[in-house]
Amino acid sequence: PQHILTDTFGRKHNYLRISLTERCNLRCSYCMPVDGVPLTPNAHLMNAEELFEIAQLFVNEGVDKIRLTGGEPLVRKDFPEILTSLATLPVALSITSNGVSIDRHIDLLKACGVSTINLSLDTLDTAKFKKITFRNYFDKVYENIFKLIEADFNVKVNVVLMKGVNDNEIIDFIEFTKKYPVNVRFIEFMPFDGNSWNREKTVSLKEILDTLHTAFTKEDLIRLPDAPNDTAKNYKVAGYKGTFGIISTVTNPFCDSCNRVRLTANGQLKNCLFSTTESDLLTPLRAGKDIRPIVQKAMLGKHKMRGGLNTPEQFNDPKEHTENRSMIRIGG
Ligand code: GTP
Ligand code: 5AD
Ligand code: SF4
Repeated sequence: PQHILTDTFGRKHNYLRISLTERCNLRCSYCMPVDGVPLTPNAHLMNAEELFEIAQLFVNEGVDKIRLTGGEPLVRKDFPEILTSLATLPVALSITSNGVSIDRHIDLLKACGVSTINLSLDTLDTAKFKKITFRNYFDKVYENIFKLIEADFNVKVNVVLMKGVNDNEIIDFIEFTKKYPVNVRFIEFMPFDGNSWNREKTVSLKEILDTLHTAFTKEDLIRLPDAPNDTAKNYKVAGYKGTFGIISTVTNPFCDSCNRVRLTANGQLKNCLFSTTESDLLTPLRAGKDIRPIVQKAMLGKHKMRGGLNTPEQFNDPKEHTENRSMIRIGG
């Protein structure tokens, strides 16, 4: 049999991330360009049936985990229909959301077998939330974390650290895991089109660890075993209910174990988060063509690391990152 989701480095891709929409109800500075993004006309986006058809094809080729992303996936009107149809496939289904309106979907998520939910919350301070996201929804997101815990979901809290913005909250977030059984992930701020990234704004894995060592002893900081293909290096503080992790694409990439492939809302396959080429699946699908050869070719074109930006010098140069999409049109 052909393994069309295996690349030239022998990596098997069993994890599909599908972006449902390019729209969002927040305006996070690290994700959405200040002047916004041109809206793709609806006719150029996958409809629910097309999305299911492509997802099913990937499942037939070995995908057993699907994550729904955005923009904000929950702003898509037919989200319930999409989730319900994907739940008929033999996959672990998850969602990454900004958490603003997730309380409205708790029953649906339960019914569809979703067990882990990744939420973004970059600060524990209301005023700072407004500065980062340009919206006043801190209370909603914060309360929704507890509603999800209450409903027995595993909750991961994504914190994109930015120097001078929220890097003074590392310990506060760790203290949050003292009482609550969540997995907080500190994420190195990454470059995408239009997010004004530079290396100095990124808080590195090393800097995060240095901060931790100022507050906790070596005995209290427990490094947890790595789960296969995990993006995060995970830890916990002895005796705390929750755990925390660090996602270090910028300073310690984990591409060797990459098992991810991405489908954008307009039906383009991205073989890497940083790929600068995309493969159109939607147009040939609409023309009734077999898209498997296109998928296979796309996977064989996958670079070893970060879309081909292998060295720190290359990756740290903002000019190298203008050919990708903005994050809001990728979904992470
Ligand atoms: P799970 O492992 O399924 O829980 O998902 P995740 O942590 O990868 O997904 P999530 O959407 O919560 O993203 C958290 C952070 O990891 C975001 O900053 C993503 O951009 C980043 N991320 C997700 N997948 C990849 C990847 O394949 N490569 C890199 N470099 N970063 C990734
Ligand atoms: N760098 C790192 N992580 C980012 N995310 C969004 N933009 C960036 C960026 N520039 C993360 C958010 C969101 C996830 C999908 O991606 O935390 O939860
Ligand atoms: Fe995979 Fe690209 Fe992420 Fe590396 S940067 S882990 S190759 S998606």
